[in-house]
Amino acid sequence: MNAASAHPPLDRLDGPDWWRGAVGYEIYVRSFLDSNGDGMGDLPGIASKLDNLADLGVDVVWITPFYPSPGKDHGYDVADYTDIDPQFGTLADLDALVTTAHEHGLRVFADIVPNHSSDQHPWFQAAIADVDSPYRDYYLFRPAAADGGPPNNWVSHFGGPAWTLDPAGTGEYYCHLFLPEQPDLNWANPAVMDEFLAILRFWVDRGIDGFRIDVAHGLTKDPEFRDNPQIREITPGMHPTEIFESFDHVHDLHRLGTTLIYQRWHEEVAPFGTILLGEMDSSNIDRFREYVGRGAGLDGGFVLTVSSMIWHPESIISDLLTFDHAANGGAAWALSNHDQPRVVSRFGGGEVGVHRALAVMTIMVALDGITFLYQAEELGLPNAVIVGANEDPITTRNDGAAGRDVARGPVPWTNGPNNGFTTAGRAWLQIEPLPADMTVDAQVADPHSNRHRYQQLIGLRKRSPQLWQTPMELSRRTEAELIIRRGDLTVVANLGTEPYDYVADARFVIEFESRAGGATVDVNRLRVHPESTVVIRHDDHLEPEAQA
Ligand code: GLC
Repeated sequence: MNAASAHPPLDRLDGPDWWRGAVGYEIYVRSFLDSNGDGMGDLPGIASKLDNLADLGVDVVWITPFYPSPGKDHGYDVADYTDIDPQFGTLADLDALVTTAHEHGLRVFADIVPNHSSDQHPWFQAAIADVDSPYRDYYLFRPAAADGGPPNNWVSHFGGPAWTLDPAGTGEYYCHLFLPEQPDLNWANPAVMDEFLAILRFWVDRGIDGFRIDVAHGLTKDPEFRDNPQIREITPGMHPTEIFESFDHVHDLHRLGTTLIYQRWHEEVAPFGTILLGEMDSSNIDRFREYVGRGAGLDGGFVLTVSSMIWHPESIISDLLTFDHAANGGAAWALSNHDQPRVVSRFGGGEVGVHRALAVMTIMVALDGITFLYQAEELGLPNAVIVGANEDPITTRNDGAAGRDVARGPVPWTNGPNNGFTTAGRAWLQIEPLPADMTVDAQVADPHSNRHRYQQLIGLRKRSPQLWQTPMELSRRTEAELIIRRGDLTVVANLGTEPYDYVADARFVIEFESRAGGATVDVNRLRVHPESTVVIRHDDHLEPEAQA
């Protein structure tokens, strides 16, 4: 299908709210496409496939961190915020990528990591080389507790305490909510703000259209560094995530001052039309609302709850409606990302997982905000089966604990060696090869493929602004059914195990069904098959035959 004819051009998305109603695509740079045969995805690899993404119909590509990095957390440990890691390419490659993207009508979002840097960043190196260096106060160094241990009970997301002894031997500790190699920055220091405003401007000047902000809820810490209240017992063998969730993070996350930081960022970049989307822990809905409400700093926030949902129809319906309401248009929806098992596997795996994922995606295209796909989600990809060594530090540093590698397998492009991802002997992360029908090549060629279904659904969202602009009318909500009306479109979701009959008050045509050929129509009665969603368009002028 020709992208230009299939979808309206980008100027449809002009104006400050252009991103609302858009469809984004997350690219995990290491695993998208390797152009130079070193086993690692790179920027020229991405640039060479932008036509494929434009054809799919997406508006925005978000690329995970491409900055120079020791790679301890695969790029989320940044050693230089204004350059490109040589393994991914050069600044010239990035410029070429942005130009090509814009030619295809795509916008490019960079992933900015402001909560922490790498311990190899010159700021941290200066901070530990000289306690009197102005860079010392870029980080959170604190005296030890009376017993010589860490200053408080904060824990790292990746296991162990959130504190490591100053390598300079001062006896102080520095704070890190992730790896010891990812020291947290001190956002109470105005110099850190100045540095980041300059970093944002650097990328805006290179044509970057928006930022996904890593750990956006993290930046501000309690000035007194008080203990977090513990809310449940920690038992041996707990996963680091469970240990982290055993505390109420009132002192290290979600502090009110954080929104002030983004208001300043917004002032800096909004004149250029640049969009700010925060990665938001959404466990606290009131806090979520403060970041993305009118006048708040962020245009939108990722609803992380949605990216880890399992198949439980009642909670799925409840979460989608709750956050749609709370976000007031500021939601960034994603069923999958690089940090969670893939949605197909979370929803039961196999064919079942594939059709359930599309049923929920079909509800999400009728919600306000921006809806993201994670690379290869449109292929119906399940979790990768890792055959080589695990790479995620959550796994390698916690006795093999379940980690994120299952979401990070290389994209299967072809049925050739390494599924066409690399010409090297092996990819950076070795996984079981995927069958031919899971590859991009095969799915582009097959008009009945999962990719074509996603392409149709994206096309529907793009030509139907009423899906996010017209106020939502909730016609039915049960434990398994959800019926939303948006102007002349009605979304009938049946996530239950029995067929559901919807009787429309006007004549209609089926615009999209998540299980092709699954719905049947009898005059104004629509039978929606189990675990599927159908979008219909009402039209009083339609003759009954038109519905056949
Ligand atoms: C975010 C990223 C994740 C990373 C972490 C620390 O959650 O999505 O991949 O490990 O932040 O930067």
